[in-house]
Amino acid sequence: MISPVNLSNLDLFESGAPWPVFAELRQTDPLHWSDEESPNHGFWSVTKYHDIVRVLRDSETFTSERFTNLEEVDAEQEEARRSLLETDGARHRALRRLLQGQFTPAAVAHYETFLRGLTATTLDNAFAQGEFDFVREVASDFPINVLAKLLDVPVEDNKQLIDWGNRMIGFDDPEHADVLINDPESEKYRLVPFRSPAALEVFAYGDALAKERRGKNGTDLISVLVNGDMSDGIALSERDFHTNFLLLVVAGNETTRHTISHTMINLIKHPEQLRKLQENPELIPWAVEEFLRFASPVYHFRRTVTKDVEMKIVTWFASGNRDSQIFEDADKFDVTRSPNEHMTFGRGGPHMCLGNALARIELRVMFEDLISRIDSMALTGPVDYLRSNFVHGIKRMPVRVKLR
Ligand code: HEM
Repeated sequence: MISPVNLSNLDLFESGAPWPVFAELRQTDPLHWSDEESPNHGFWSVTKYHDIVRVLRDSETFTSERFTNLEEVDAEQEEARRSLLETDGARHRALRRLLQGQFTPAAVAHYETFLRGLTATTLDNAFAQGEFDFVREVASDFPINVLAKLLDVPVEDNKQLIDWGNRMIGFDDPEHADVLINDPESEKYRLVPFRSPAALEVFAYGDALAKERRGKNGTDLISVLVNGDMSDGIALSERDFHTNFLLLVVAGNETTRHTISHTMINLIKHPEQLRKLQENPELIPWAVEEFLRFASPVYHFRRTVTKDVEMKIVTWFASGNRDSQIFEDADKFDVTRSPNEHMTFGRGGPHMCLGNALARIELRVMFEDLISRIDSMALTGPVDYLRSNFVHGIKRMPVRVKLR
């Protein structure tokens, strides 16, 4: 039976992930067609774990070079907007090599003490209020502070960085976007990422920092971008700097923020799992994998088939993470699940999340501290989700905390 489901319909995502829809598609229509409104042409959705892995691994057949969001872009837009994420082959390897030293497990381990201090302050401030919006007080400030540290910029810039991220990633949400991506008005911004005017502000911010740091021996991310040697011998262009700087600004924030918020909701909804971690905190480093699987903050990325005809293929990581052929009791939140080969960061392909070790340490440190302090937490009002089929995001979640 062909399902009438259309995954470009954002109403499906209004209250969070449409898990039953993904389950139905995996069962009845694992390669599923969705029509889209013009100027887009529709896409095929891949919803089963192994099929997603096959697409991610074969970047020759399924390229990222035609871009990875649903928006279809022309050659001029590709040229202007391309970053590491939308590059394949030798150039992609060179760009990754430039940055990967900053993101190895050993490199990010150096941030542990800093992260512990940051977590403690964040939780002190939030918990002192008793009742608060968990997203605003805990989840959103934490990853942005880590980013400020990686970029070596003052914490006073954090509010601005959060605002830019919201405005760009919320491109489909009227509350966040300056101009909705499908609004004709967005044509003015067609040559910048997410068609968002916020991108231009991020570029200008990056330029000022680059100017300060060029030719010096800083070790922060911006210094690496402007002074690092490219292994393919082709220096970064101004466009390369802009788009990759912007990618680093957005990639780690929303994703980690939403994982923290989802995890808190999951621990609230499954108090027996919270108890398990309170009684056995040594389980937390491993439980992080289940936090990530269950949160699936990035719903999908897109590839384009390059052979014969051009086709848009969308890999639904969130669906693969609930595939019952891979995960026993896939819809159960089980902090002791093992093995847990989730695809929240992608799985095995060349674009596998560069920041995965950093995200993991952020989640571990945050929940080690948080779980040790609380007796319980309760939602005191409705959870407000981002209107998006790209990011599984939470905008607000009012909570009350009971401390130990
Ligand atoms: C829970 C948090 C995070 C999630 C769920 C996440 C998810 C992802 C996913 C799904 C991809 C694409 C994988 C693929 O196509 O195979 C990706 C790529 C990427 N991520 Fe993350 N990410 C997270 C945190 C971070 C952090 C903290 C950073 C660092 C600043 C980061 C930087 C990147 C970059 C630069 C890429 C592009 C890599 C490439 O194209 O080679 N991410 N991420």
